[in-house]
Amino acid sequence: MITTNNFAKEKILQLRKANLYRTLRRVSAIRKMDIRIDGRRAINFCSNDYLGLSQNPAVLKATRDHLCQISQCSSRLVSGNSPDIDGLEKRLAKHRRTECALAYPTGYMANLGALTVLADKTSIIYSDEFNHSSIIDGCRLSGATIRIFRHNNVNDLQRLIDTDKKLKLKSRKRIIITEGIFSMNGDIANLSEICQIAKAVNAITILDDAHGDFILGHSKEYAGTPDLFRVSRDIDVHVSSLSKALGCFGGYIAASYYVRELLINKSRQLIYTSAIPSYLCQAAIASISVAAKGFLQKKLCRNIEYFVEALRKLGFSTGSSSTPIIPIIVRDEKSSVNISNSLLKRGVFVQAIRYPTVKKGRAQLRVSLTAKHDRKDLDFALSCLETTARKYQLI
Ligand SMILES: Cc1ncc(COP(=O)(O)O)c(C=O)c1O
Repeated sequence: MITTNNFAKEKILQLRKANLYRTLRRVSAIRKMDIRIDGRRAINFCSNDYLGLSQNPAVLKATRDHLCQISQCSSRLVSGNSPDIDGLEKRLAKHRRTECALAYPTGYMANLGALTVLADKTSIIYSDEFNHSSIIDGCRLSGATIRIFRHNNVNDLQRLIDTDKKLKLKSRKRIIITEGIFSMNGDIANLSEICQIAKAVNAITILDDAHGDFILGHSKEYAGTPDLFRVSRDIDVHVSSLSKALGCFGGYIAASYYVRELLINKSRQLIYTSAIPSYLCQAAIASISVAAKGFLQKKLCRNIEYFVEALRKLGFSTGSSSTPIIPIIVRDEKSSVNISNSLLKRGVFVQAIRYPTVKKGRAQLRVSLTAKHDRKDLDFALSCLETTARKYQLI
C-alpha cells in the first residue's frame, strides 16, 4: 500500500538522484549585505533588494509608525480595504503613468489575477519561453491557448501570430506577455518591437516588470522597462512586485480604470484572500520616495558595470546582462550546486539555479547585485568566483 509518506519519500529520492533536490537554508541578516547562513557568515549575492531599501532607516521608520494592526484579517471586498492601500495605489498609478493601480498580496498573485481575468479559453496568449513561473501558472489557469515564443525573439513571435492567422484564428483575443528584465538571465525584453507587433495585430500587451521596476528608465521615477524604451503608453497592463527594488512585500497591477474595476470584480486572487497589510503599504510608499531620488540606481549601475566587466575579463560566460541579475552559465546541475556550496564555504552566497526554474542542462549561478554592495564586497566575490571556477574548470 502506498502511504502519503512513502509517496513523498519516493519523489524526494527521485529529485536527489537528478540533482534537483532543494533545501531551505536558515538565513539571517546581519547588516547591509552581510548575512549568517546555516551558521556561517557570508556576503549575500542572492537578494532582489536591488536598492537595499529593505533596511533603509526612513522605510523602517514609516513601517513602525504605521504598525497599529498586523493585518486587516479580511478580504479587501469584505472589510480589509484600508485607506493606506488606496494611497499606495494612487502613488503606483502615478509612477507607471496609468489611470489606476491595484495592490495584491504578492506579485505572483498579481500575474495570476491579470491573466485569469483578461484571458479565457477563447484567447491566445503569446508568452516568452523564459517567462516566470507565475506567468506560466497564470496562462495555464486562464484556459487560453498558449503559444511560447523563443526567448526575446520577435521574429518567432511574429511567426506564431502569422501561423495563427492562417489557421483562421484571427477573431480570437490575442495577448502578448513578457518580462521586462528577465528574472534569471537578467537581459532586457525587446519591448519596442513587441509593442509594434502588438499594435499591428491589435493584441493586449501585459508586462511583468518585477525586476525592471524602479531600476530602469529615463524619468526621475525610474518607471521601469517601458520608461527605458519610452513605450509606457503602449503597455495595456503593467504587473510588478513590491518585493524587489522597493525592498518591501506585495505586488500590483497598473492599468486603466475599467481593467481595475474588472479585476476587483473577477480576480479570485484579490477577492478570496486577505488584503495586503496597511503597514506594508506605508513601507512601499516610503520606499518609492527614497527610490525616486535616483542616487541608489546610480550606485547600482556603477556596481553592475564594474562587476560585469571584471567577470568578462576573467573569462566567465555571463550572457548579455547589463542589469543587477548576472547569470553565470554552468549547464550541469551537480556542478552548479557544488560551485554554489564551495562559494558559500568561502563566504559568498550565490544560489545555483536549476530545473524547473531554468531548462534541464541549463543550470546557472545567479548573481544578484545591489546598491548596498561596496567595492570590497565585489572584489571579494570576484576573487572567490575566480578561484572556485578554476577549480571546477568553468573558466
Ligand atoms: C518575474 C517575476 N514575476 C513575479 C514574481 C513574483 O513576485 P512576488 O515575489 O512579489 O510574488 C517574481 C518573483 O520572484 C518574478 O521574478
